[in-house]
Amino acid sequence: MSQIVYLNGQFLPIEQAYVPVLDRGFMFGDGAYEVIPVYSRHAFRLREHLQRLENSLQGLRLTNLYSLAEWENLVLALIKRNQAEDQSLYLQVTRGVAPRNHAFPKGVTPTVFMMSNPLITPSKEQCENGVSAVSAVDIRWDRCDIKAIALLPNVLLQQMAVDAGSVETVLFRDGILTEGAASNIFAVEKGVILAPPKDHHMLPGITYDLLLELAEANDIPVNIGYFDEARIRAADELWISSSTKEVLAITSLDGKPIGNAKPGPIFHKMYKLYQDYKNRVMRQEND
Ligand code: PDD
Repeated sequence: MSQIVYLNGQFLPIEQAYVPVLDRGFMFGDGAYEVIPVYSRHAFRLREHLQRLENSLQGLRLTNLYSLAEWENLVLALIKRNQAEDQSLYLQVTRGVAPRNHAFPKGVTPTVFMMSNPLITPSKEQCENGVSAVSAVDIRWDRCDIKAIALLPNVLLQQMAVDAGSVETVLFRDGILTEGAASNIFAVEKGVILAPPKDHHMLPGITYDLLLELAEANDIPVNIGYFDEARIRAADELWISSSTKEVLAITSLDGKPIGNAKPGPIFHKMYKLYQDYKNRVMRQEND
């Protein structure tokens, strides 16, 4: 059975979903997106993802065509039309189709596209042993808080990790940790979680928020601030977080071990708290 996607008011097989070449998403990368994990057919933290979409659209001065309730219904309808129990739902809004001109076109309806694929989370081996990462200078723009579809710097930075046989690229702007090419980054120092603040230099991750909520609820101390490269390299633990990676330990950075090169005790705690939360909140609703 063909994969069903959503495009501008219609559910249709992916082979039949076309966007004109003058779509501003294609021409300029002019749009915003979300990636929402779906567990047992329940969209995880859907409200939070839709609120971040709204913030991104406002940041891009792009009209949000749908109300929260309309988005929720569309997302749930797409989940139903796809086979997998656990899915990775992608949605994007672009400024629509117009003759090529940098300035905003007038009277153009945004393009809305959604698709859902089976969710692929890190392997058991990666969760147990951690992964390697490389580092790079954060070459992105100054509005990394907007989840824009224009991802060329992220694409180039992520490829550096792939070329090195690693999973992620950890970014430093002016020597300060920001985030990963496609994830947020946390460190641990003497039992305290170090996290960069949600400013314009990082995406306010939904997983980031959840991890900090879980840490607080379980009395694990957190220090939110600006951390320089030397401090991050000397940290006891380093983690990646995202909707698809969940929480994953980085055990080596640029070929050098982080801590004792094994996922650390705070990671193990957080990993368990995250999985327990997921199972409790999502899976129980199916009973
Ligand atoms: N990316 N920072 C960046 C630059 C990201 O691209 C992502 C997620 C995150 C984590 O955000 P969240 O926890 O809300 O997934 C942080 C998604 C998964 C992607 O682009 O595929």
